[in-house]
Amino acid sequence: MGDMHQTPHTPLPNAPDKTVPMLHVLQLTPFVDPLPLPETMGVAHPGKLRITMREIHAKIHRDVPPTLMWSYGPTPLAPIIEARSGHPLEIEWINNLPTKHFLPIDYSLHGCGHDIPDVRTSTHVHGARVPSKADGYPTDWFVSGKSKTCLYPLEQDAATLWYHDHAMGLNRLNTYAGLFGLFLIRDSAEDSLQLPSGKHEIPLVLYDRELTADGQLFYPTSGDPEHPWVSEFEGDGILINGKIRPYLEVEPRLYRFRILNTANSRFFNLSLDTQQPITQIGSDQGLLSAPADIPHLILAPAERGDVLIDFSKSSGQTVHLRNGALDILQFRVAAQSTSTAEHVASIPKNLRTIPRLAESSSVTTRTITLDEYKDKVGNSMLMVLNQKRWHEPVTERPKLNTTEIWEFVNLTEDTHPLHLHLVRFQLLDRRRFDVFTYYTYNKLRYTSDALPPTPSEAGWKDTIQCPPKSITRIIVRFEGYTGNYLYHCHVLEHEANDMMRPFEVVA
Ligand code: C2O
Ligand code: CU
Repeated sequence: MGDMHQTPHTPLPNAPDKTVPMLHVLQLTPFVDPLPLPETMGVAHPGKLRITMREIHAKIHRDVPPTLMWSYGPTPLAPIIEARSGHPLEIEWINNLPTKHFLPIDYSLHGCGHDIPDVRTSTHVHGARVPSKADGYPTDWFVSGKSKTCLYPLEQDAATLWYHDHAMGLNRLNTYAGLFGLFLIRDSAEDSLQLPSGKHEIPLVLYDRELTADGQLFYPTSGDPEHPWVSEFEGDGILINGKIRPYLEVEPRLYRFRILNTANSRFFNLSLDTQQPITQIGSDQGLLSAPADIPHLILAPAERGDVLIDFSKSSGQTVHLRNGALDILQFRVAAQSTSTAEHVASIPKNLRTIPRLAESSSVTTRTITLDEYKDKVGNSMLMVLNQKRWHEPVTERPKLNTTEIWEFVNLTEDTHPLHLHLVRFQLLDRRRFDVFTYYTYNKLRYTSDALPPTPSEAGWKDTIQCPPKSITRIIVRFEGYTGNYLYHCHVLEHEANDMMRPFEVVA
């Protein structure tokens, strides 16, 4: 993914010299901290939860002083919400944050301004099918000292969802500060598969951060005080469940991992150093139809991977999870399994039936361009969808209970993970085209065949990678509720300026 992201500190012509000393994260001793685990993953809270956003100080590595962050819980690994499909859940989201932000706000971005409070939050459950008023609409923000109660009907299949801040113009900073958590929905179809559970089902929440020498979060700026926004960046500190390069003691048996990429803009390319494949069983919106052995799991921001890893052939050894060439998590495999009575879970052959949505069922095809505007020296200034900014009137009005094809025509040089609220969808295909011909003659000249989804992407999705110079086509049924929703790039810097658009589901 290297060519997709500029190096973090590419200075703008007017940027001052950067003087903040940075932490050399890669020089920290790896695998000295145990992977933090949630207290329980198996307890369903009956019907009602209160979740409080607060400032915390957390040790992200043995040799780094405590880091100031924000979280939905007492540690960087916020409570994992566990719910049952069809059992409604009410959550009161409480904003107990300080009134001043500790990261650099860009007051020129949509929804920002000196005339409104600096600290605003709006919690969105990513992947949940909810009425618009509970969806965490970006302008539905509330401030410190306030709360908002939302009812989640959860009329949807088992899946790895997550929750995060979505406040207008601020969520790139609020998420970077730490406002995110996992939200698992379970159902009887999943139960019947008897996948590894309890202490053999482990969440892995992945993200990257830049850190100052004293261990504090650093969010880069452009150097222009009027417009500090940067188009994207990658931090060299990779955290899992809140720790840099932790270790996990495992038994020589099958495990299930629920992996979430909650980074602002980093893509993860995960593999095992043993060359053993990863068995993917689910993606954004639940289980695949059958397990898929994959050499690499590539997760764009907001994407999820539900995977099985078998340590039974590695007793007494270590196995590493890698991102690219860097080992980011060490598994220490015990010599013997302690859970002798429990039979070794096995990998089911089939997971569930996923009916393919037929193209012929689509009532319309919407073509949506992904555009980027640069300044004279090539710095990104703005990215938009269909050449329209967020505040322009709604142009997408799908009808409830109809199916549509959306094709994303990516005219930029980045891969953009596009996410639609409310719905789940299927990838139809991706096809490369010649951008020059498109601009000059307003014509599509394809330069490849249409590539169908790989097994990894063949299930239900809510976020889809749209590679450069390609048309990515999805098919989506608008089900559930009418009302105002949105779709956007999940590179949070892109979303903030201004790759986000409303859509309205109409009766
Ligand atoms: Cu992860 Cu608009 O959301
Ligand atoms: Cu993007």
